[in-house]
Amino acid sequence: MYRLFRPLLFRLDAERAHRLTLAAARLVQPLAPWLVAPFFKEEHPALAVQCWGLTFPNPVGLAAGLDKNARLVRFWEALGFGFVEVGSVSARPSRGNPRPRLFRLPEDRALINRMGLNNDGAERVARRLRRLRHRRPLGINLAKTHDPNILGEAAVADFCESFRLLAPLADYVTLNISCPNTAEGKTFEDPDALDALLRAIFAVRRELDLSVPVLLKLSPPPSSRTVFDSQLEEIVEVARAHGIAGFVATNTASDREGLRTDPEALARIGPGGLSGRPLAARARCLLFYLYRLTEGKLPLISVGGIDSAEEAYRRIRAGASLVQLYTGLIYEGPGLVRRIKQGLVRRLEQDGFDSVQAAIGIDA
Ligand SMILES: Cc1cc2nc3c(=O)[nH]c(=O)nc-3n(C[C@H](O)[C@H](O)[C@H](O)COP(=O)(O)O)c2cc1C
Repeated sequence: MYRLFRPLLFRLDAERAHRLTLAAARLVQPLAPWLVAPFFKEEHPALAVQCWGLTFPNPVGLAAGLDKNARLVRFWEALGFGFVEVGSVSARPSRGNPRPRLFRLPEDRALINRMGLNNDGAERVARRLRRLRHRRPLGINLAKTHDPNILGEAAVADFCESFRLLAPLADYVTLNISCPNTAEGKTFEDPDALDALLRAIFAVRRELDLSVPVLLKLSPPPSSRTVFDSQLEEIVEVARAHGIAGFVATNTASDREGLRTDPEALARIGPGGLSGRPLAARARCLLFYLYRLTEGKLPLISVGGIDSAEEAYRRIRAGASLVQLYTGLIYEGPGLVRRIKQGLVRRLEQDGFDSVQAAIGIDA
């Protein structure tokens, strides 16, 4: 069905197509348990994953950025996602960057976006989530308010404000310290700044008497480099010292290496985060590295260029407990979730594993 609609959608400006699709999903959402779930939501017991004391009915989740304002959680559940990560949400609302800010690179099966953390702000999203009855694990992704004047201690306070409002409503919280679309840069990927941030976040968590798992979302390594720098090791060390429960790897990339798209077209598009298939090798590489660095003790969510069961299975074998999708959905359509789940069950059976859990990290 999506194959029929896709050429029409792809004729529209990318963000307009995006908004149209999401508006249609909102219309359908109240009836999704009857209209959508019967076709998409079947679950195989071998796909269930236990993480942080939560049961994920399958390891395929929605990546942050597609449902920034948590408007469609029940729709994603009906599509068969095992979990949903909403956000990024920031303490203050933001309209994001001027349009156009989302671009397709069909030759590369990729997207470039400089959305700029457009979202309704923590208070409105918290109000929405308080009314929500979700059935599958819900992650809330937090980012600093999109304002280059909020820096240093003010940036820490800004993160703490959204954490205070939203952490009580989350099954896990992801701190997005790796958004490439901010004027001030990725300031919390500096180990000292990260140390200050995590000290403050965990103090708020203790004050609220919460045990919600806190994860960190990291940037991809540059594609030309397979050896990682000591800064990443330091980041992981600082994160573990504070009790970070896992990592989400990876966010979009700022460089344009190895793309088929005409360089002139890329120059016209301008800056933004690259997502989709060109990220796959890097995301895999970072996953292997993180799994080794953490001795397989911290659950890892792998994201970046997953658009098939084969790729999802590779990530699980490389050490991912869970995977997430974004750009793959734009190119493959919503049926991708079901196809990945069916393909995973087949591959697990072929390789003699009785569950996803048994295959995690087997190649690491
Ligand atoms: C349009 C767009 C908006 C995004 N917004 C966010 C965001 O708000 N927060 C975040 O942590 N990641 C965001 N991401 C990154 C995705 O969650 C994901 O890490 C990245 O796209 C790589 O996965 P993919 O190749 O499957 O798309 C966004 C990605 C896209 C394409």
